[in-house]
Amino acid sequence: MNDAPLGLFDSGVGGLTVVRAVQDILPSENIVYLGDTARVPYGSKSPETIRHFADEDVRFLLSKEVKAIVVACNTATAHALPGLREQYRVPILGVIEPGVEAALADPQCERIGIIATRGTIRSHAYQHALAQRRTGLIIHGQATPLLVPLVEEDWTDHEAARLVLDSYLGPLVEKGIDTLLLACTHYPLLIPMLRQILPADVRLVDSATTCAEHLRKELTRLDLLAPVENQGSLEIFLSDLSDEFEALSRRFLRRPTGRIRRAILGS
Ligand code: DGL
Repeated sequence: MNDAPLGLFDSGVGGLTVVRAVQDILPSENIVYLGDTARVPYGSKSPETIRHFADEDVRFLLSKEVKAIVVACNTATAHALPGLREQYRVPILGVIEPGVEAALADPQCERIGIIATRGTIRSHAYQHALAQRRTGLIIHGQATPLLVPLVEEDWTDHEAARLVLDSYLGPLVEKGIDTLLLACTHYPLLIPMLRQILPADVRLVDSATTCAEHLRKELTRLDLLAPVENQGSLEIFLSDLSDEFEALSRRFLRRPTGRIRRAILGS
């Protein structure tokens, strides 16, 4: 079982930011990644549709005999994780718990801003998870739907991104946030611009790194870590293949992707 791959899935290729973080922290693990590029984005879709898609994503990964699954997509975690955990016996991790725990690891953290897709903000999954763990927190959720297309256009350093971020973040800064949770696969790529815009004392917590750390702890606890001498591999499957998705995959992973294959979902 320890030699079996880990399965990660996302609505598209953004979840490769999580794959990168997992490869850094767990270099011996074999990874199967599924990006549902045929149906991206999830962030603007209804909870029922997202749950249905997430279920098909999990079934695809189970067909690859994975030992554990990571829902790398924040929107899918927000809407589908509890149901998936009830339905399947394989360990399934999401990105919300680790992000929330990392934000609250700092005892000084009192005022938290969350930026995410509309679906994630509307689910209140982050807001509830934070409020359950610490009372008295001041939490501001801000839907930031323009950020995913900006990142996908590679406009992370563009004046347009600065303007958009200024208007999304202005109200959060006015409210005096001390922590900003980057609750979307794509936002780690905006960290350099966010650092320029936000006051220096605002802490940034991104769900990719925190999720990889959490995964290491869980695999250790479950005695599921791959043997250390193993050289981890990566197989990428996308439900729609195009030159554009392949180029985007390389940008999100920031490493060679190897051959990308087509996934047929829902069969
Ligand atoms: N992967 C999604 C998330 O982390 C962002 C892209 C989408 O809307 O599908 O919420």
